[in-house]
Amino acid sequence: MPTSIARAVVIGASGGLGQACVQHLIQQGVPEIYAFSRTGQAFSSPSVHNAQLELCDEASIAAAAALAGQNGPLQLVIVSTGLLHSGVMHQPERKLSELDPAKLATDFAVNTIGPALVAKHFLPLLDRQQRSLFVALSARVGSISDNQLGGWYGYRAAKAALNMLLKNAAIEMGRRNPRAIVLGYHPGTVDTPLSKPFQRRVDPTKLFSPATAAGYLFDVLAEVSDSDSGKVLAWDGQQVMP
Ligand SMILES: NC(=O)c1ccc[n+]([C@@H]2O[C@H](COP(=O)([O-])OP(=O)(O)OC[C@H]3O[C@@H](n4cnc5c(N)ncnc54)[C@H](OP(=O)(O)O)[C@@H]3O)[C@@H](O)[C@H]2O)c1
Repeated sequence: MPTSIARAVVIGASGGLGQACVQHLIQQGVPEIYAFSRTGQAFSSPSVHNAQLELCDEASIAAAAALAGQNGPLQLVIVSTGLLHSGVMHQPERKLSELDPAKLATDFAVNTIGPALVAKHFLPLLDRQQRSLFVALSARVGSISDNQLGGWYGYRAAKAALNMLLKNAAIEMGRRNPRAIVLGYHPGTVDTPLSKPFQRRVDPTKLFSPATAAGYLFDVLAEVSDSDSGKVLAWDGQQVMP
C-alpha cells in the first residue's frame, strides 16, 4: 500500500464492491477520492468528487483521467467495473450452442477493453515518488489452469484476456514507473447484483458482504510488493494462477 494516499480513484463506484471501496477510503480519511460511475453516483462526503465514466467510450475515460489527475499524481486506482449478466439477452453461456457474437463482444468491451483503456489513460497518472497501485477487479474464473467446470464462456474469456493485458501493462510499467504496481484481483463471491442469481450453491460463510470484501481487498493491497506486479491476487492474498 502507498505510504500515504493523497488521491485515490474508484471506477465502477455505483457497483456493490465499488461503493464499498469508496466508503472504505472515506473512513480511512483519504482527502481526495474520485468516484466514477456511469450515473455519477453521489457520495456526500466532501472528500469525494463524483463524476461520470462510460467504459465503452474512450473519450469519457480520457476526460475522467484529466479530472482525476488535475491536482497531482494518484497513489491508488481501483477498477471495480464488470459485467456477468444483464437481462434475458445477456446471460452467461452454459454451452457452445449459446454463443452469440454480440453478447461476446459486449463481454469483452466491458470486462477487457474498458479496463485496458482505463489503464492506458490512468497508469501515466500514477505517483513516481512513492509506491502507487493500479488494481483491476478480475475473477478466479478467468484462470485457465483453474477451470474445472467450463461454461460462462464470454465472462471467463474476457477476464482471462484482462489478466494478460494487466500482465503486459505491469511489464511496461516496470520500465516506465518502477514504483507502480499493477494487479488483477479476485474478491471471492461478494453479495452484489453481479453474483445475485448465482449465489444458491455458495457456502454462506464464503459469501462476503461488499464491506467485508472491500476490507479484504485493502488488507491484500497493504501487503503487496514489487514482485506481485502483473499477478492476479485473491481475497486471501494467494495468487490466482493464469
Ligand atoms: N460479486 C462477485 O461475486 C464477484 C466475483 C468475482 C469477481 N467480481 C468482479 O468484481 C468487480 C465488481 O463487481 P460487483 O460484484 O461489484 O458488480 P456490480 O455490483 O454489478 O458492479 C459492476 C459495476 O460495473 C459498472 N459497469 C458495468 N458496465 C459499465 C460500463 N459500460 N461503463 C462503466 N461502468 C460499467 C456498473 O455500473 P452501473 O451501476 O452503471 O451498471 C457497476 O458500477 C467486477 O469486475 C466483477 O467481475 C465480482
